[in-house]
Amino acid sequence: MEFKIKRGDLTGQKTPCLILGVFEKHKLSEPAEAIDKASGGHLSDILRKGDMDGETGRTLMLYGIPGVSCERVLLIGCGKRKEFNRRSYRKALAAAVTLLNDTRITTALCTLPEVIPAGMTRYRTVRDAVTTCADSVYHYDRTKQEKKSPRFPLKRLDLWVAEKQDTQTAQEAVRHGGAIARGVALAKDLSNLPGNICTPAYLADKAIDLGKDYPELRVEILEEKDLEALGMGALLSVSRGSRQPAKLILMEYRGGAQDAKPVVLVGKGLTFDAGGISIKPASDMDEMKFDMCGGASVFGAMLGALELALPLNLVGVVPASENLPDGDANKPGDIVTSLSGQTIEILNTDAEGRLILCDALTYCERFEPDVVIDMATLTGACAVALGKHPSGLFTQNEQLAAEILTAGEAAGDRAWRLPLWDDYQEELDSNFADMANIGNSRWGGAITAACFLARYTKQYPWAHLDIAGIAWRSGKKKGATGRPVSLLTELILKRSGQLK
Ligand code: BES
Ligand code: MN
Ligand code: ZN
Repeated sequence: MEFKIKRGDLTGQKTPCLILGVFEKHKLSEPAEAIDKASGGHLSDILRKGDMDGETGRTLMLYGIPGVSCERVLLIGCGKRKEFNRRSYRKALAAAVTLLNDTRITTALCTLPEVIPAGMTRYRTVRDAVTTCADSVYHYDRTKQEKKSPRFPLKRLDLWVAEKQDTQTAQEAVRHGGAIARGVALAKDLSNLPGNICTPAYLADKAIDLGKDYPELRVEILEEKDLEALGMGALLSVSRGSRQPAKLILMEYRGGAQDAKPVVLVGKGLTFDAGGISIKPASDMDEMKFDMCGGASVFGAMLGALELALPLNLVGVVPASENLPDGDANKPGDIVTSLSGQTIEILNTDAEGRLILCDALTYCERFEPDVVIDMATLTGACAVALGKHPSGLFTQNEQLAAEILTAGEAAGDRAWRLPLWDDYQEELDSNFADMANIGNSRWGGAITAACFLARYTKQYPWAHLDIAGIAWRSGKKKGATGRPVSLLTELILKRSGQLK
C-alpha cells in the first residue's frame, strides 16, 4: 500500500472517498465540520437521523454529498471526544481501511491524522496511520491454493494535513512508517510460514536474499561445523535432535561511523519447538512454529534500518534450530558445555531457547557492542504474567530500561519491566553443572529464564525482551503480529538521531 501526503482545501479534493472522523453525540471532527459547512449541513442532517452514533470503529458510507468534490464520504466513529486516544485512533483507522479494502475503492483520502489524540503529535498520527493501515490490510496466502485476497485492494491512501508547515514532518512520518510497515510485514511473512517451509536453512537463505537486495548488508551463515569449531555446545545440543542443521545467521549493516560500536539485535529463531524429549502436549502445538518470531523481528528491524539508510552500525544475530524428540536429542540430565565455557545441566529439553541464545549472546562479544538486545518467545510464564499486550523487559541497566520502555511507548509497541534481581539466581543451581537450564521451583519462570541469559551477557550492556505473549495471536485471527519490530525501529531511529 502506498501513502501520500495531501494538502489544501478539503472541499475541493477530488477523491473516490474522503474519510472523516465523527465523535459520539454527533460531534464532528474539524475536517468533518468543514465538509458539513460546505455541504449546507448535510452531514449533521444525516447524523441527526441516528444511523450512526460515532461509536469507535462504526462506519457509514455516504454518496452524493452536495457542495464538495469527493465522490463519497466515509464517516468513521472515533468514540467519545473526551476519551479519544491512540487506541481509538488506531481502531477507527483499521475499521476504515478494512472496509475500503473490501469495496471497489482503491484510493482514498484520510483526514484522521489531523484529529490528534491527547499525548500524540502529528508525526505520530501520520506514522500510526501508515503502520496501522498496512497492518490491517496484511494478508497471508502463500500456502493457499485458493487466494482469497480482495478483488480491489486499497492501493493508495492519501493522508491529509491542514497546514503547509506540517507537510515536511508528515512526509518524514510516512517515510519512517513505510519502512516500519515493511519490516513488520517481513517479520509476519517469515513467522506465519509453517515449520516445514521455514526451516533454519530457509531463514539463512532469506538473510542471503536480503544481502543481495541490499549490498550494504554483509551476511554470513555459520554452519554446524563452524559452530562445532567455535565450541557452541549449547546451541548444537538442541539441533542434534533434528534433521535440520542449525544455522547461526549474521547480518551486519555498517551505516554509521567506522569506529562506532554497533547495536546488536539477537533473535530466537527456533523454527519449530516440539519440546524435545520433554515433549509438549499436543493441543496448540502448531503455534510453536511461531517460536522463531524473535529471529523474524531481527530481520524486520534490519530491513527498516536498510530502507531508511540509518546512520548507525547494526548487527543482527539469529540462532536458528528446531527442537524435536529423537534418539540423538538432548535428554533430561544431559550436561553440555556452552561457548562461554560454563556447563549446563539440561533438566528440561523444552527450555531450549536459552540454550541456543546463550551461545549466540557469547558470540556477540566479538562485535564489541554498544548494546545487545535479544528478542525471544522464551517462556509461557511471561505470557501468564503480563498477558498479550506488552513484551516482558529484563535488564539491570536502568538507562537502557528507560530507553526501551520509552521507545515502546512512543512506537505504540509497549514493553513492561520485570525484575532481574540476583535473588532469583539460586533457582538455577545444579549439583552437576555450573547451572541448570530451568529453575528448581515453578515460580517466576520468565525471570529465571532471563537470569540464565544474564550469565552470558556480562561483557556488554544488555536487555532481554520476552515476546511470548505478543509475537502472535491465537484463535480465529491466528497469525504473527510482527512485534516488536516497531519498538526496535523506533529505538534505532532515535539512536541514529533521526527523531526529535
Ligand atoms: N517456546 C517456548 C515458550 C512458549 C510457550 C512461548 C508457549 C509461547 C507459548 C519455550 O521454548 C518453552 O518451551 N519454555 C518453557 C520453559 C519451561 C520448560 C521452563 C515454558 O514456557 O513452558
Ligand atoms: Mn521450548
Ligand atoms: Zn521454544
